[in-house]
Amino acid sequence: MASLEVLAARFRSLAETTTATRAPLYSKLSAAAADDPGLVRLLQAAPEQQQIPVLLFAAVHHLLLQGLGSELAAHYPNLATAPASGDPVPLFRAFALDHADALTELISTRHTQTNEVGRCAQFVPAMGLLADERGALAHIDVGTSAGLNLLLPRYSYEYEPGGTVGSSSTVHVHCSARGDTAVPVPASMPSISRSIGLDLMPIDVLDDDEVRWLEACVWPDQADRFARLVAAIDLARANPPDVRRGDAVADIAELVHEAAAHGHPVVTNSWVLNYLPHDVREDYVAELEALGAAIDLSWIIAEAPAQTPGLPVPTADPPEEITVVSLVRWRRGERSVRRLATTHPHGYWLRWERSPD
Ligand SMILES: C[S@@+](CC[C@H](N)C(=O)[O-])C[C@H]1O[C@@H](n2cnc3c(N)ncnc32)[C@H](O)[C@@H]1O
Repeated sequence: MASLEVLAARFRSLAETTTATRAPLYSKLSAAAADDPGLVRLLQAAPEQQQIPVLLFAAVHHLLLQGLGSELAAHYPNLATAPASGDPVPLFRAFALDHADALTELISTRHTQTNEVGRCAQFVPAMGLLADERGALAHIDVGTSAGLNLLLPRYSYEYEPGGTVGSSSTVHVHCSARGDTAVPVPASMPSISRSIGLDLMPIDVLDDDEVRWLEACVWPDQADRFARLVAAIDLARANPPDVRRGDAVADIAELVHEAAAHGHPVVTNSWVLNYLPHDVREDYVAELEALGAAIDLSWIIAEAPAQTPGLPVPTADPPEEITVVSLVRWRRGERSVRRLATTHPHGYWLRWERSPD
C-alpha cells in the first residue's frame, strides 16, 4: 500500500500539472487533499495500481450523480448551470468524510474507465479513405468500453477548417484542424454495414450503475465532454451497440471473420494497446498480421507511440507521447503503413500529415 506521503505527493502533482490549466475545480480539490491526511487515506482502499487521485474524485462524482451532496454539486461545472462561487474545499471534505464508507466501497472495487466519443473524429477521415477504396466497411473496435465509438455513423462532425459530415445528431463532435494539410473530410458518412466491439470488461449501456461510473470518470470541468458522453449514451440506449466480452488477442480473429461477411473489415484501436504488456501487444500485432496474410484487412491505430512500442507505426525519435493516427492495410497479403495524423488524445484537434504519394 502506498504511504500517505506518496499519495499526498500524487495529489500535489495532479494539482500542479495536469489539472492546473484544464481543470480548475480538480486542481483546487487536489491541492487541498494533498494537505489533508483524512482525504488521502481514503485512497489507500484502492488496489495498488489504482491508487491515483482521480479515482477518489470519480468516486465522489459518482455519488453526486446519484443525487447526493447538492451543495457540493453546485460547484461542479457539469452539474450546475452556473457553478457556485466560493470555496468548494470545505464542502468536498465534509462530503467525503461523511460518505467514507460508500467511497471506500467504490474505491476498492472500481477502476477508472473512459469511452471518449471525440476519438471518432480521428477515425472518420481514415474511414472515408477506406470507403472510397473498398465501399461498405465492417467496423471492429477493440477495447471498445461501452461501444460508443461504434456509433460513429450516428454522430455529426465539424472539422474547422475542413467542413462537416454526418446528418444532424444529438451528438456533435467538433474537431479543430491544425497545420497546412487539409483533413480529408469525407463528402458523406462512410457506409458501415456491421459494427462489433470487443472488450475485456465492457460497459453495458443499459446498466444505470455502470453508465454512472463511466460518466463519473469524466472530469467535471470538461462539461462539454460530459454532455456529449451523456448524449451518446442516450443514443446507444435507444439502439445498443453489439459489444462482446473478450480479449484482444484471443478473440480478434473470430470477430474479423464474422465482420468480413458484411463489408471490408476495419479494426480500430484507441488508447487500448497501452494497457497490454509488451509481449501481449506483439501477440496482437501477430494476430492481425496473420489475418492480413489471409484476407484484405485495414487497421486504424490511434495510440501514443511512446506508450505502445512494437506497433507498426512510424514515429519520431523519441516516440511521441501524443496520439498518432496510422492506417495499416493488407491487400492481397501485402502490408502497407501510412501515418495519417497527430491528434489530441480526446480528438479536440487533428493535424493531418501530407500524403507521401
Ligand atoms: C481507456 S479505455 C478506451 C476505450 C475506447 N477505445 C475509447 O477510445 O474511448 C481502454 C479499454 O480497453 C479495454 N481493454 C484493456 N485490455 C484489453 C484486452 N486485452 N482486450 C480487450 N479490451 C481490453 C479496457 O477494458 C477498456 O475498456
